Amino acid sequence: VGYVGPTVSSRAQGVVMEGLARLEYRGYDSAGIALVADDAIAIRKRAGKLANLLADIDAHPLPASRTAIGHTRWATHGGPTDTNAHPHLGGPDGKLALIHNGIIENFHALRTELSADGVAFASETDTEVVAHLLARAYDGDLTAAMRTVVARLEGAFTLLAVHADQPGVVVGARRNSPLVVGLGDGENFLGSDVAAFIGYTREALELEQDQIVTITPDRVDVIGFDGDPAQGKAFHVDWDAAAAEKGGFDWFMEKEINEQPQAVADTLLGRTDETGALVLDELRISEEQLRSVDRITFVACGTSAYAAMIAKYALERWTRIPVEVSLAHEFRYCDPIANDHTLVVSISQSGETMDTLMAVKHAHDLGALTLSICNTHGSTIPRESDGVLYTHAGPEIGVASTKGFLSQITACYLLGLYLAQLRGEAYADDTRVVLTELQETPDRIAEVLDRLERVREIARFMADTRSVLFLGRHVGFPVALEGALKLKELAYIHAEGFAAGELKHGPIALIEPGQPVFIVVPGPDTPHGLHGKVVSNIQEIRARGARTIVLAQDGDTAVEPFADEVIRVPRTSPMLQPLVTAVPLQVFAMELANAKGLDVDQPRNLAKSVTVE
Ligand code: G6P
Repeated sequence: VGYVGPTVSSRAQGVVMEGLARLEYRGYDSAGIALVADDAIAIRKRAGKLANLLADIDAHPLPASRTAIGHTRWATHGGPTDTNAHPHLGGPDGKLALIHNGIIENFHALRTELSADGVAFASETDTEVVAHLLARAYDGDLTAAMRTVVARLEGAFTLLAVHADQPGVVVGARRNSPLVVGLGDGENFLGSDVAAFIGYTREALELEQDQIVTITPDRVDVIGFDGDPAQGKAFHVDWDAAAAEKGGFDWFMEKEINEQPQAVADTLLGRTDETGALVLDELRISEEQLRSVDRITFVACGTSAYAAMIAKYALERWTRIPVEVSLAHEFRYCDPIANDHTLVVSISQSGETMDTLMAVKHAHDLGALTLSICNTHGSTIPRESDGVLYTHAGPEIGVASTKGFLSQITACYLLGLYLAQLRGEAYADDTRVVLTELQETPDRIAEVLDRLERVREIARFMADTRSVLFLGRHVGFPVALEGALKLKELAYIHAEGFAAGELKHGPIALIEPGQPVFIVVPGPDTPHGLHGKVVSNIQEIRARGARTIVLAQDGDTAVEPFADEVIRVPRTSPMLQPLVTAVPLQVFAMELANAKGLDVDQPRNLAKSVTVE
């Protein structure tokens, strides 16, 4: 976060600290702030949560100022300590302060060069190298110094700098990492996203790749790294600060779970014409290009990769185009097969996941068409892709994705139905029927949310459990994986998801008396007798003493003899089942974490936007 205002007061500190609090959801393990006051830099930084920094500032108050920068850091080079926290000071007199997101890949070489020149380093970070380079390049003009220094940097970065000799100025630079400007009245703001300044202004300017911005109380000047004047892209922020608050729930995650009917409905909104046909004209990829696609590869990480796995079942059935799912961080290294008839679809809630971004760039280099399914406007992945299909879930603040996930599945289904429509017909299902049912799904999700009291009780009862298994088949398999991931992320319990058919090939050896197992049961009308096969799987583990917690559709009585608990979900067609079965598993993990007294919104060691590879 960066700020410049018209008068020397406590406002700079207040704005920056509030901005950091609003960005807490991105995940961090230390925090710091620097102000320009009396021709010097005043700085405070602390490992741990913002509360530690606030306590430090209370004990050692900061001077009034009109210029401040602040940062929350997620450790990469150097552990999460007070000294490694940002801002970092540059120059022998410490007159320059710098904050940085991303990684400077050539920092070793730069550090060696500076050390040989007698520069002493206080920290182990790549950032401090840039602080010293900037201080050395400074000759009365911080913008010029920034231009000189960015030319020497390799990697991904957003940088913000202030100099004691230039009060009332903050200079920012961005390459491959987000930076937005908040346009105020007699004051200006910088942030990694608009949440940083949403309490002060809704008018914003998005910087493009390789640009430098200089803000003063009444000016915002943008230039390219080459020095040419440039312009950011102005936009109006249409969600307010309240949307980013908890709305009466204990946790953002709980609020977001409850927003899922809306998230799915909003993702469907405005995507059909008056005849009921799908129109995805915002895709930015021509119908002709889409018709020529003969292979689809999804790239994503974490929960988004499970949405991709679900999408594979639906897209292959509806379009008969072969679909592959690749974890984004593996994609580049498996010598992927792609050409201009390949559609590479990335799924990312944040739009900033570096692994996914790099996979998209690689796909682009191979000549593939790239499409981003993303929840965050103005983020990097959609900008680097040929086309985009936005999910409209609204800001997701809980680190563990919930409404992001359901809206991703929804967007994938829209894509599949659209491709089927373009190709003339759906091969296996009537697209109109699926679409109509999809439009009714928000009501089904709301029904699930209304009947989860028993799930909460089970979760509280299981607070001491050491291990939980999840089984599913067909689209229920990725749901089982997601159920296990949620439990790991939130409750720090060892959990595994398996394809139920794989059980007999190994995992069944894990079953011992009392072992809790969730089973996602397909609807009784799922083709190929799959339902009966999963019921047999339940019997097999029950016979070996497992405690079976069964997710089954209303009216499915066949599971009852073998279930210790039955969690009912409304009937849906087989393909749409993940949109209802994922929800009880989210609530189970959240409630169990809650029962263990854990931080549901910010689980340990995790970050919302993982902007490093
Ligand atoms: C992080 C988060 C996960 C998330 C994954 C992908 O690992 O902790 O919850 O699923 O990133 O995030 P994305 O924003 O790309 O969907």
